[in-house]
Amino acid sequence: MKIDKRDWFFIGVVATVLVVFIAISGKEKTTTVPNNEMHKAAYEVAFRNAPSPNDSIFKRAFFKPDKKGAEVFCEPCHKEMGVAFPPDHPAKNRCLFCHKLKR
Ligand code: HEC
Ligand code: HEC
Repeated sequence: MKIDKRDWFFIGVVATVLVVFIAISGKEKTTTVPNNEMHKAAYEVAFRNAPSPNDSIFKRAFFKPDKKGAEVFCEPCHKEMGVAFPPDHPAKNRCLFCHKLKR
C-alpha cells in the first residue's frame, strides 16, 4: 500500500491526539482534595446528585460531580483559614480541574 499525502495527514492527526492525551494524563500529580471534615461540605455539594447503586448503569457511568458548585467554597474558606497557596500557584479559577476529588 502506498501512503499518500492524505494518509500522512490522518497519521499526523492520530499522533497529535495521542501525544495530547498522554500529556494530559501525566498531569495527575496535583494534590487531590483531602476527603476530611474540612472538605466535607465541598464533597457533599459535588456529589449531591450522585446516582445510587440502584440507578441504571448509564446514569452511573455518565454522572459528573457538580464541580462548579463545589468550587464556590474553596477559596473563601482557604482565605479564612489561612491555607497558603504555593508562591508559584497557577491561575486559581476552576480549582477542581487540577485538584481532583477523591471518590
Ligand atoms: C471549610 C473550609 C475549606 C473548604 C470549603 C475547602 N478547603 Fe481545602 N483546605 C482547608 C484547610 C483548613 C486545609 C489544610 C488542612 C487540611 O488538609 O485539611 C485545606 C487543604 C487543601 C489542600 C491541600 C491538601 C494537602 O494534601 O496538602 C487542597 C489541594 C485543597 N484544600 C483544595 C480545596 C479545594 C479544591 C476546595 C474546593 C472544592 C477546598 N479545598 C475547599 C479548608 C477548606
Ligand atoms: C491550573 C491548575 C490549578 C488550579 C486551577 C488550582 N490549582 Fe492549586 N495547585 C496547583 C499546583 C500545580 C500546585 C502545586 C503542586 C501540588 O502540590 O499539587 C497547587 C497547590 C495547591 C495547594 C497546596 C497543596 C500542598 O500540598 O501544599 C493548595 C492548598 C491549592 N493548590 C489550592 C487550590 C485552590 C483552593 C484552588 C481554587 C481556588 C486551586 N488550588 C486551583 C494547580 C492548580
